[in-house]
Amino acid sequence: MDYIYQIRKIFEQHLSHHPLSRPPHNLYDPADYILSLGGKRLRPLFALIGAELFESDVKNALNAAMAVEIFHNFTLLHDDVMDNADIRRGHATVHKKYNLNTAILTGDVMMIQAYQYLLDYEDPILVKKLLDTFNKMAFEVCEGQQLDIDFETRNDVTIPEYLDMITWKTSVLIAAAIQMGAIVAGASDADQKHIYEFAKYFGIAFQLQDDVLDTFGQSAEVGKKIGGDILQNKKTYLYLKSLELADEKQQTLLKSLYQNEITLEDDQKIAQVTQIFKETNVTEYTRQVIEAYRDLSISHLSACTVQEDKKTMLTDFVNAMIFRES
Ligand code: IPE
Ligand code: IPE
Ligand code: MG
Ligand code: MG
Ligand code: MG
Repeated sequence: MDYIYQIRKIFEQHLSHHPLSRPPHNLYDPADYILSLGGKRLRPLFALIGAELFESDVKNALNAAMAVEIFHNFTLLHDDVMDNADIRRGHATVHKKYNLNTAILTGDVMMIQAYQYLLDYEDPILVKKLLDTFNKMAFEVCEGQQLDIDFETRNDVTIPEYLDMITWKTSVLIAAAIQMGAIVAGASDADQKHIYEFAKYFGIAFQLQDDVLDTFGQSAEVGKKIGGDILQNKKTYLYLKSLELADEKQQTLLKSLYQNEITLEDDQKIAQVTQIFKETNVTEYTRQVIEAYRDLSISHLSACTVQEDKKTMLTDFVNAMIFRES
């Protein structure tokens, strides 16, 4: 894990030397607030790893790494408004600490800052390649977020629809991050495609585990409110698969809870839904799907023309991330 640790340190140092803060501070300070709360730094790590895998100095990918992390944090500002979330990374979300307008406008300016980092590359051909990759991803993230919200009030969401939705809202950013690193390094089209697919399938497994932790994690470790997805009637894999596995009585109860037909205190609703998830043993099924996506992911890593020891390190990292507790 030393390899990952070293690369993450390079990013952390770079980020700490490049705060967004400048006047007007009410606009930029909340951006530094959210960025300073840390998190896993998965996307910038992938941007730097993408460059390193294909034999470029990681420093060449720092602008891309900044772009994806700032973009990610922008999506979190807006996501926490959309999901009515009060806690992120163990601290107040931006709309709670400041206000709604701040979450909107600081989010907007962070997105612009992300683009600025890509424009800082000098070679115009490289800039265009990066922007093409970035924009395709950014459209898809918004589309995934829209579906996630649409699904809250739909009662006929299927598992394939859910998997498409999480591919767009979460996994394409992780995939674009590593591809952008590979682009900076001048990787071949075939390698770019495989490394993108590697990160895309990993990203699906990553979001499945995010859903598991939202219900079954420890608040202190996850840094969010446990049960938030249940309160928002999110059509997660846990919900959809549990519905499939449930008997008639459990199905009726689960559906009425998610259609808000039963009025309960938040804690009561979370407890009742969690109970059905446990009774249907849905986490075991989720674990199997996570492993299936992990295997698909690794098959694409294997196909890359990359040193074997680096593949091993990345595989270890993927395994640690998909069964993370925080
Ligand atoms: C949170 O992403 C949003 C999802 C797509 C699940 P992370 O779990 O990577 O959040 P941080 O950046 O580590 O806080
Ligand atoms: C967030 O998904 C995806 C984006 C921000 C684009 P979630 O809503 O599941 O992320 P968390 O659980 O709030 O971190
Ligand atoms: Mg969300
Ligand atoms: Mg959310
Ligand atoms: Mg979540």
